[in-house]
Amino acid sequence: MMIGLACIAAAAAGAAAQARPAPAAPLDEQQVRARADALLAQMTPDEKAAQIVTQFNMGIPGQEKAIDESVAKGIGSFLFVTDPKETNRLQRITVERSRLHIPLLFGFDVIHGWSTIFPVPIGQAASWDPAMIERNQAIAAAEARSAGIHWAFAPMVDIARDPRWGRIVEGAGEDPYLGSAVAAAQVRGFQGPRIGAPGHIIAGPKHFAGYGAALGGRDYDEVNLSDSELWNVYLPPFKAAVDAGAGNIMAAYMGLNGIPAAGNRWLLTDVLRKQWGFQGWVVSDANGVQSLQTHGFATDQADAAARAIGAGLDMEMAFAGPAFAKLPAAVAAGKVDQAQVDAAVRKVLEAKIRMGLFENPYVDEAGAAQLQRNPAHLEAARIAAERSAVLLRNEGALLPLDRAKLRSVAVIGGLADSPRDSNGPWVFKPTQPVLQSILQGIRTKLGNRTEVKYAPGVIIPKRVNASMIDSMNADLRRPEPKDDDSGIAEAVAAARSADVAVVVVGEPQGMIGEMASRSTFDLPGRQQDLLDAVVATGKPVVVLLLNGRPLDLKGTKAQAILDLWYPGSSGGDAAANLLFGDAVPGGKLPFTWVRNAAQVPLIYAHLTSHDAGHADTRYSNESNAPVYPFGYGLSYSTFAFSNLRLDRPQVAPGGAVTVSVDLRNTGARTADEVAQLYIHQRSGTAARPVRELEGFQRVTLKPGEVRTLTFKLGPQELRYWNAAVRDWVQDETTFDVAVGADSTVPFAGSFDVRRQ
Ligand code: GLC
Repeated sequence: MMIGLACIAAAAAGAAAQARPAPAAPLDEQQVRARADALLAQMTPDEKAAQIVTQFNMGIPGQEKAIDESVAKGIGSFLFVTDPKETNRLQRITVERSRLHIPLLFGFDVIHGWSTIFPVPIGQAASWDPAMIERNQAIAAAEARSAGIHWAFAPMVDIARDPRWGRIVEGAGEDPYLGSAVAAAQVRGFQGPRIGAPGHIIAGPKHFAGYGAALGGRDYDEVNLSDSELWNVYLPPFKAAVDAGAGNIMAAYMGLNGIPAAGNRWLLTDVLRKQWGFQGWVVSDANGVQSLQTHGFATDQADAAARAIGAGLDMEMAFAGPAFAKLPAAVAAGKVDQAQVDAAVRKVLEAKIRMGLFENPYVDEAGAAQLQRNPAHLEAARIAAERSAVLLRNEGALLPLDRAKLRSVAVIGGLADSPRDSNGPWVFKPTQPVLQSILQGIRTKLGNRTEVKYAPGVIIPKRVNASMIDSMNADLRRPEPKDDDSGIAEAVAAARSADVAVVVVGEPQGMIGEMASRSTFDLPGRQQDLLDAVVATGKPVVVLLLNGRPLDLKGTKAQAILDLWYPGSSGGDAAANLLFGDAVPGGKLPFTWVRNAAQVPLIYAHLTSHDAGHADTRYSNESNAPVYPFGYGLSYSTFAFSNLRLDRPQVAPGGAVTVSVDLRNTGARTADEVAQLYIHQRSGTAARPVRELEGFQRVTLKPGEVRTLTFKLGPQELRYWNAAVRDWVQDETTFDVAVGADSTVPFAGSFDVRRQ
């Protein structure tokens, strides 16, 4: 006999707030649907409208009464509630006092950690290690779940080919193949084997779709993409996330080819549901429904609500005053079909049922604190920071530094002593993030054997336009040297008196991320003057970068450059291990390191187009070759690829070839290499890029070790969406093949695709 959900919830209400056994076995889809429909049948129009709203709750003083009243009325979910005491308190009000006792869903931006902070997503993408990324997001999910969070507004899977766009830091860079692998890994990490798995949370890939192509790299600006770019570049990571079972999708803010994403039926229904079979629910971005009016798309808020629901958007994320509150009137006026509202409500109820919230609505508050300070999590964060680092330059094998021979090290730059910046954007004080600076890590490593002199040098400017999110994101602490040359003189003196100078420069975390696009890649403030002055001393200089986009270091002559990204809670320890050789960098760039902002966009997978024999000097005044190519990264060892071969010279459309290559560690240290497989379609019914990534493997090899790596190239890798026929095609043609250490590797093999 089916016990109604309301009865279960009421029983849970009566029971103490203790962990209750989840259903013996996960419900099958039929049972989930039946339970949701049984509840739906009891709901009033207002209760339905409230259920499909997720409302900001920033704990702003004075809002408590309104929040509690909305909870008692049965609002569906909140975001930005992070204290398990508060999630339990609000949950108890809902479960005990709302008419149908439907538990709340709590969502949050769990982007790269909760209290254990991992490197920013662009940094983890630079590890080219999806298995590690999956493990890290599973840890983030466990910590967030312990605080009462059920749903992450992540992963951000927007392809970014314009580094002026600040949110490049939140994604996996410019390439759809790498981006798809990272997207699927994050969904698996967040959700575990199924939605509702203990210690896991629902993944909400975002921002659907095309947000990374904002005009001029200006965040929130319009996006105009060809169908070919959409299908071949910007949609694949979302498809990978949906195929990995993502339970939620967040619609983007901006207009896509003139149609706002939150009201774009082609995107939210035709593609996402009809073509891809997405079964979860779609949420707007913050105030994304209300803003349909400011887009000049909806006439008023009732129209905004109607157009969003009609396009297939299921839930509104709103600061306050949700447009969806107008849905009952819109239904009554015949402007919205009740069935469309019911379909949206049903998906949200199904998510809550799958998560077991009716049986187990509360969290163990003591357990949350303990789990969030698990040393194993910090160890994982350190490993992630080490594997994400990219060695860009190492002249004279300056790195790793031999600490046995070092009397003193000068650590220079305010970012070295700023744990908040080390954690990067999308880290909020209420989740009590673990903090560690680069300087702390170096001091801990060197102990009292080597003198560490620190000089902040120059002031690090703050973000230009603080946002509401900044209020929760406030920089905890940052050194404030005098804003004159005395700081530089002090830094120069420290360098002169040391054996080596480690200069930490980059962008403060407030200058990257949302609402943080920049029209220049110069080092903010006077960091370049500081770096140049230290290099001018003639001392060996190692540059450590904190960044999320390519930076223009003005051709610095520093001997070594190591990109740490924003390395997270164990970034100091990781930096020290990398500097002194207890860890070996093996990361590779997930984007093309363009020379300067004026050359954007510059991508590796471009078309030859018309080639008058000067592909990398299209500008008359400077080369347009990148500073570092996509997929680039050095090591403390060396590697050699050889003997590329294919198992057959020809394959019929739909068939597959196997590519093999031998990889040898030709250096003296055990180290990692990322073998990258690129293809080039020589001709066909459309022109294709000069090369495209279609496979990669990160491997660890001992000195002298040789390993044969194999890759499969089948229809999934060889097909593309063709603008002429407006569908996926596989041409009969010849493909060039290369496997190597970055996107400049020469082609070394080929095969034909021919009907027999
Ligand atoms: C922001 C972002 C989105 C985030 C949401 C909630 O404006 O665009 O990525 O998840 O609001 O913080």
